[in-house]
Formats: sequence, C-alpha cells, structure tokens
Amino acid sequence: MDREELVTYPLEAFQSRDYLDDEKRLLWPKIWQMVEREEDLPNPGDWLTYNVADESVIVLRKDDGSLKAFHNVCPHRGRQLVSVPDMLPGQVHDVRGNNRKSFICGFHGWTFDTDGNNTFILDPQDWDNKLTAEMTCLSEVQVDTWGGFIYINMDPDAVPLAEWMGFAGEVLEAHEMSKMRYKWRQWAIYECNWKVAIEAFLEPYHVAGTHTQLLAYGDYYAYSKQFGLHSVSGYDVREEDFATETSGGTTRSGKAGLDPRVSTYQLIKENYETVNYAASTETLVNAASRLVDELPEGTPPGDVVAHWIASAKKDDAKRGVVWPEIPADIQKESGLAWGLFPNQNILHGATYALCYRVRPYGDDPDKCIFESYALERFPDGEEPETEWVYAEPNAENWGTVLQQDFDNMEFVHKGMKSSGFRGPLPNPHQEQKVINLHRNLANFMGRGGVRKIEQ
Ligand code: FES
Ligand SMILES: [Fe+2]
Repeated sequence: MDREELVTYPLEAFQSRDYLDDEKRLLWPKIWQMVEREEDLPNPGDWLTYNVADESVIVLRKDDGSLKAFHNVCPHRGRQLVSVPDMLPGQVHDVRGNNRKSFICGFHGWTFDTDGNNTFILDPQDWDNKLTAEMTCLSEVQVDTWGGFIYINMDPDAVPLAEWMGFAGEVLEAHEMSKMRYKWRQWAIYECNWKVAIEAFLEPYHVAGTHTQLLAYGDYYAYSKQFGLHSVSGYDVREEDFATETSGGTTRSGKAGLDPRVSTYQLIKENYETVNYAASTETLVNAASRLVDELPEGTPPGDVVAHWIASAKKDDAKRGVVWPEIPADIQKESGLAWGLFPNQNILHGATYALCYRVRPYGDDPDKCIFESYALERFPDGEEPETEWVYAEPNAENWGTVLQQDFDNMEFVHKGMKSSGFRGPLPNPHQEQKVINLHRNLANFMGRGGVRKIEQ
C-alpha cells in the first residue's frame, strides 16, 4: 500500500560484502526468479543453465512438454554437471543445448536421466551398496511459468508462483505477455551494485534531470504504488487542471499546451527511437504519424489518444496482431512499469514490453550483470530470431535514453560511498518502488530496511 512518508534506508545493501554473502544465503535461494522465456525451450530435450550468485540451475523441457529444473551439481563430489563459465564481457551468457536424454558428469561418469534419477554409478559395490536413490539423484528446483517466462525457486517451501506474483501478475497477464516474443536482448557488466542498476529503472522521477531532451514533447510527473512484494509507477499530473492523458503508460498524449496531434506523434517517435526501438511499436508510431491528417485542428488530447489507439489496433489486426482486451479495472491500475521483486522491471503495453533484469556479479558488490530485452507481439511466423548479445553500454548499442541511465549508475554507486552522504531521501510520491525494494529486502535479509525519518 501507499505510504507516502519521509523514509530512508541504510547503504550496506549496496556496499557491504557481508550483505552480499547474506544475499547468497537468504535471498537468491528463496525467491521466484525469471530464468528465460518459454519459447527458448520449445522442444523436448531442450535445456539451458541459469546462474545467480553462486547458484547454477539447469532447466529442461521433458518429453511430455513439462519443465524440470535441477541444481547444476553432481551429488558425487560436487562437480558442476554442466560447466558454466563466468559471464565475462563478450563471452557466454549461459550454456544451452537440445536433444538431451541424460546428463553424464565429466568427473567420474555418474549419469542421470531427465527426471534427475541416477542411472549409472561406476563400482557401486565400493560403497557396500549403501548408496540410496535419494543420495545419488540430482537436487530438484521448483520451476513454473508465468506470462511466457520460466521462473525457478530453489526453496522447496516457497509459496506458489501465482501467489508470489499477486496483483502484479494479474495486470501483466492481462497484457498477454505470453504471446509476446523477444525483439532484442542484450547484456553487459556494470560498475555498480545490482540494486543501483535496477533502481535506475524503477522511478520516472529522474526523467526531468537525466533525459532532459524528452521534456520537449512530454510531461513527466509520476506516481508510484506498492503492492506487496511488487510495485508500479505511472504518469501522474501535478495539478488536475493539467490532466492531458488517458493512460498511465507510454500511449499518452504529448506535452500540455502543444497541438496534441503533433506532440503525441513526436513524443512516441522520440521514445521509440531513443529507447532502442522499444517501449512502443512501429504500428503505434505509424498510426501517430497520421494523426494530423486524420483529425481536425483543436481535437482535445483525450480524443487524439483514443483515435490513435483505435487506429493502431486496427492496423495491427490487419497484419494478424490482435490486441488483448484489458478489463477496465486492470487498465486503471496498470501504470507504466512494474518493479518485480527483487531484480526485474517490466514496462508494458498492449503489444510490447521493455524489461530489465539485474544479477550480482561474482563476489563484488561494486559490479552487476545488467540485462535488458524488448518483447513484442508479432504476426505468427514473423517472430525474429534473437539471442543474448553482449553490448558495451553506449548509445550506439542501447539508444540515447538508456545510455543516459547508464551514465548515472556508476556514479550513484560511487557517490553513495562518500562520507558526506547522509543517506537516501527517496521521493515519497514518485519513488515508492525504490522504498518497497528495501522494505521487502529486509524481510528476506533480516537486516536493513526502511526507517521513518523522525522530525
Ligand atoms: S563428481 Fe560427478 S561423478 Fe564424481
Ligand atoms: Fe531513465
């Protein structure tokens, strides 16, 4: 729930090695976390690895179409079953393959079927035949799917994934994310703690200060709200008189005071092109470009947006992309972007999503693995082939807007180490998502958290 209070939170979550060690014990093995999109494992025998902190997990598609997940470790003497190299810049993102019928450990040859049962041990009589099936099978990991994503949880006692997702899951599911496919996906190693990186995308309060060029066509006041583990932000108005929008997402009208037929187009075009062709679609940009021809001068902003959305929907239907019918009560709370605890952010629309995921990097609290990917609805058979691409963090690879965000991250991380920094003063109206991250982290970590500033 919204608690617009003056609060702060301690910095150890960003800086302390000891805190990072505790995350390995108390956070990562206890949470539902996104591994990959389902379409990456289309056929029986398809498999891939997912690493987070010191953990490595294998996820596999079985013959009956279900998914199975195991800790990537041989129960004999602990070799990784599949060798997964560290994510060094420019090298492998993960290890994956097809047609897998069994896993054979490269050390002493113990073998496992796709259910994780041990099917071969060399010289079992040497153990006096005392090894049981339970002692020699792979350790299972919970796996489930939601919105076209594969999620795992290493905690056998974890709440079901649907319960974990809660209202955030309902809202995003209404956008039929399971029918979207990757448009692009990129990753890099950044010089900041993973929380600094995700926080850079949790709040639109920074738009005016960081992405100054965007102010030419749009107004960027934001609200933010907590819903349990997760939280949402959306566009807001400072004063009711200036309400110009019909949606909390990117499909809204341009800056108040300008001709909305023109500024709506300029706003969406600029958003799309400078956020690496994400957070909108070609269809929406093209439909917006026709507003000035299709509508009379003086059309009110709300009508401009309604016409724009209706014509984009029609254009998409013609090419076989049918928009989801989003119930009004869901649309109302839908917002611009959801922060999914702890390390994911999803900026969603009817036919697209721009998503971020961050993970810690080795034992270094000053570094993280940063990933971003765009999803979109495509006509059947026109989905592009994509894979994870290592991309140095610059405007050429990521677009101007994302590069501006990256430019903050390293220096936020550095700045917070200053002995002159008295602690964060998050905006109670616009930065609830950041506050919620720290509040929920404390529940897992048993330390840190959010403290009310007494006055
Ligand atoms: S560690 Fe795997 S067979 Fe020995
Ligand atoms: Fe930004």
